[in-house]
Amino acid sequence: MSRERLAALLSEKRSYPPPVHGRTQAWISDGEEYEAICRRALEDPEDFWGARASQLLHWFKRWNRVLVADEARHKYRWFTGARLNASFNCIDRHLISGRRNKAALIWQGEQEMDVRCHTYQMLYTEVCRVAHALSSLRIRKGDHVALYMPMIPELIIAMLACARIGAIHVTIFSGYAEGGVRGRIQDSRARIVITADAALRAGKIKPLKANLDPILEKCPSVAHVVVVSHARLNNVSMKSNRDVWWHDLIDDFTLNSDFPCEPMDANDTLFLLHTSGSTGKPTGIMHSTGGYLTYAAHTTQWCFDVRDDDVYWCTADVGWITGHTYGIYGPLALGATTLMFEGVPAWPKPDRYWSIVEKFRVNILYTAPTVIRSLMRLGEAWTERYDLSSLRILGTVGEPINPEAWQWYHKHIGNGELPIVDTWWQTETGGAMISPMPYATKLKPGSAARPLPGIDAAVMDAADTDGEEGREVGRLVIRGPWPGMMLGVFNDEEKYRSYFSRFGCYESGDGAQVDEDGYFWILGRIDDSINVSGHRLSTVEIEAILTACPEVAEAAVVPMPHSLKGEAIYAFVVPREDAPWSEDLRAKLREAVRRDIGPLASPERIQFTRAMPKTSSGKIIRRLLRKIAAGAEDTGDATSLANPEIIADIVRGRKNLIQGKAEDAPAEKDQKID
Ligand code: WT7
Repeated sequence: MSRERLAALLSEKRSYPPPVHGRTQAWISDGEEYEAICRRALEDPEDFWGARASQLLHWFKRWNRVLVADEARHKYRWFTGARLNASFNCIDRHLISGRRNKAALIWQGEQEMDVRCHTYQMLYTEVCRVAHALSSLRIRKGDHVALYMPMIPELIIAMLACARIGAIHVTIFSGYAEGGVRGRIQDSRARIVITADAALRAGKIKPLKANLDPILEKCPSVAHVVVVSHARLNNVSMKSNRDVWWHDLIDDFTLNSDFPCEPMDANDTLFLLHTSGSTGKPTGIMHSTGGYLTYAAHTTQWCFDVRDDDVYWCTADVGWITGHTYGIYGPLALGATTLMFEGVPAWPKPDRYWSIVEKFRVNILYTAPTVIRSLMRLGEAWTERYDLSSLRILGTVGEPINPEAWQWYHKHIGNGELPIVDTWWQTETGGAMISPMPYATKLKPGSAARPLPGIDAAVMDAADTDGEEGREVGRLVIRGPWPGMMLGVFNDEEKYRSYFSRFGCYESGDGAQVDEDGYFWILGRIDDSINVSGHRLSTVEIEAILTACPEVAEAAVVPMPHSLKGEAIYAFVVPREDAPWSEDLRAKLREAVRRDIGPLASPERIQFTRAMPKTSSGKIIRRLLRKIAAGAEDTGDATSLANPEIIADIVRGRKNLIQGKAEDAPAEKDQKID
């Protein structure tokens, strides 16, 4: 987070009271009620969470204890001894609650006419069939099932079928390229991968199965591949005894066969979802069945004030945690109608979202600041031709929202009156942690407002970062447990512990500041991650790909501010002596990153330099590189550097690069040219 952004945020003094109209029907109807609930949750958290868990979910067997902590007070187990099943909670119980014929899922395909609707009854039928099919492939409780799929109903059906069996789903974002997919399958040792022939993206066909085949040669754990024929490609290579079409597989199972739900322990893993790690290897975040599902339902209900006849749309890809919690588990546990869209916001035209809102009379829209910024840039004309009056609540997630984008969202989508819930959370937290409640919270554009009831968020080490006088700026931590917190890191206890090692409580890796009203202003990552368009990427992972190229001696990757993506990737590269500092090399490095992680990790800028700024012990000082990448000319005190002269060189190199000149000519030569 740059000082400029901090200053911009804090100069934003406008605030917006919650709407009055409709608040009597709201789950949390005003500030007083919110305060009272916060007090209650603080005084007796176990009573509070126990009550929420009973209200929101169906339990086959009740818990012995709401919360059990280990001695070190960083491993927590929620609802111990309890039994439940996530698929039962998201489907079966709604069949007898009057929602049997309600739309559980409305799917809008990339083509306008391509719409599919699943009622709860239809979802039940499909999920049971797929559970039988997976079971026929010997998938059992505790097995890992990797899902490398586009945004299609089969993805949700597969997840709920896994949950029904007690198998653990491991969703892999379909935009990941070779290394990203391989790393996730290998780490989880998945026995089966479910995929599709291809994804449709902005009018293009993007093969998935063909991408997967070479990867699988290095994934010996995978015994079966199930392929959905989505794009109807007819030249898909299918390996005999390993690959099977989804439609052929389920065809063997009738439409009326129930598949009983496995009664899971509340602390059995529901799913594994990888996030970019600090080591270059993806971190497999494990979420529990009881705690996670309670927290997903709880936050969906309170943050979005979901009502029974709402159409609720979370635009996030199911490959991310947002899609898991707010696209599927939260809304379906509540018996709501969730909308899923396969396409992208600006294809074929930048009105796609608004036409969908009008078409299905969407009531709740939850999206990302990067989407808002990109649509804002294309102008209001695209929004004005649609009737957006069905909208009641707006939300954002994934990265700090700049006040300008907030205002645009509020004015042009929210008609200047709708509440915007800016929800701060992470893959590890399972659900929203700091967020307004739509009818109870005064909004300040750019702030995620206050921690939700029962969430003890705080900012530590105020002196660590440079903030404004009299305000706390530092590291955002959560001091106590909550039901949605991760169960652990798969096969990496040490990594799990590292989240708790500095403060003895959960450390988020974000910087934040709290203002005089107790509002949190999130300042972005302060660890080795970069947040590109709301996607967390690891600098270490990208550096490893760059240094694996034979031409590269050293590489350092830092974030740079970007008007559309929030942050973009800036790579400083020291080529080996005999390597030319050429555009070809730059293209080659970019391609290496795209091929390994995927296009979203492609560096925005690659700057060649003859050396890195280093400490006397030889460590690269990334802090200085961050400043230079952000445009600073004076990086301040350089006395701790072993090679202070390099700074001016790198600053000049950046300027040249931006101006399209060869940035990298050594200083002496540069002067001669001048
Ligand atoms: C990181 C978590 C939560 C699901 C999407 C990303 C950033 C998330 C906000 C917000 C400011 C935010 C943080 C966080 N972030 N929401 N409302 N305001 N920053 O999940 O990949 O686990 O990334 O996203 O930096 O640490 P993730």
